[in-house]
Amino acid sequence: MADDSAPQHWSEDNSALFLTLDDVAVPMREQQIATLCALIPARPDEAFTAVELGAGGGLLARAVLDAYPNCHYHALDGSETMRAELREKLAPYGDRVTIGAFELAESAWREALPSPLRCVLSSLVVHHLTHEGKQQMFADVAGGLEPGGALLLADLIAPATDRVRLLFAEQWNTAAQVQSQVLAGDLSLYQQFQNAEWNYYELTEEDPIDHPSPLADQLQWLRAAGFSVADCFWMLAGHAIYGGFR
Ligand SMILES: C[S@@+](CC[C@H](N)C(=O)[O-])C[C@H]1O[C@@H](n2cnc3c(N)ncnc32)[C@H](O)[C@@H]1O
Repeated sequence: MADDSAPQHWSEDNSALFLTLDDVAVPMREQQIATLCALIPARPDEAFTAVELGAGGGLLARAVLDAYPNCHYHALDGSETMRAELREKLAPYGDRVTIGAFELAESAWREALPSPLRCVLSSLVVHHLTHEGKQQMFADVAGGLEPGGALLLADLIAPATDRVRLLFAEQWNTAAQVQSQVLAGDLSLYQQFQNAEWNYYELTEEDPIDHPSPLADQLQWLRAAGFSVADCFWMLAGHAIYGGFR
């Protein structure tokens, strides 16, 4: 059943823009990916299945496939632009990878989750669900994971107050400036990030497709969904890495 309370969607233009901006727009990308990888509840040589929601350009997928050489990875994305990118970037991993289409807010992919399933990962995607949509998704994923399995998320969170929003906005701009200097030697990439109005925390009007929820609420929803451990493991500029372990 679709979540009718999330009327607007990520577009193919959003995908194309994200693929040009992500190196500068995502704060401390390598550290975020390394943190998610380190949290996966598996030994490096273990055979297990992981699912990624909104796998985008495949950066996290490649890191997990390299770190866990016996992992089978099911990469889902709603965008054809992103699935084409995934087919290209993940081709070297052969039949260790499957790629599929999905709509995050719908239940079909949750009913079709592989079993046994050790881990569901997602980076910068779950904030496209409403508060209610996240609670339902956490419960559905908890039900599909094997004991000891995990839902691990990197995502934007809602600031607790307006002062915190301004702090997150400033931290994100600073991170993007530093990354622009490192990548381009100047602020040209930062300027693209600004022109695209990508800093969610600078927006003063409600965004139709982004619905970050407070971190404290999400940890509570994870526990209510059946995760025995729910916590935040890393955070910068409103980008948190958090999740639950069954
Ligand atoms: C900000 S990008 C993040 C991509 C990737 N996870 C990363 O961190 O680089 C959001 C991704 O989620 C996908 N996406 C957004 N909304 C979606 C939805 N409602 N259903 C399915 N996929 C969606 C987009 O196609 C895109 O690949």
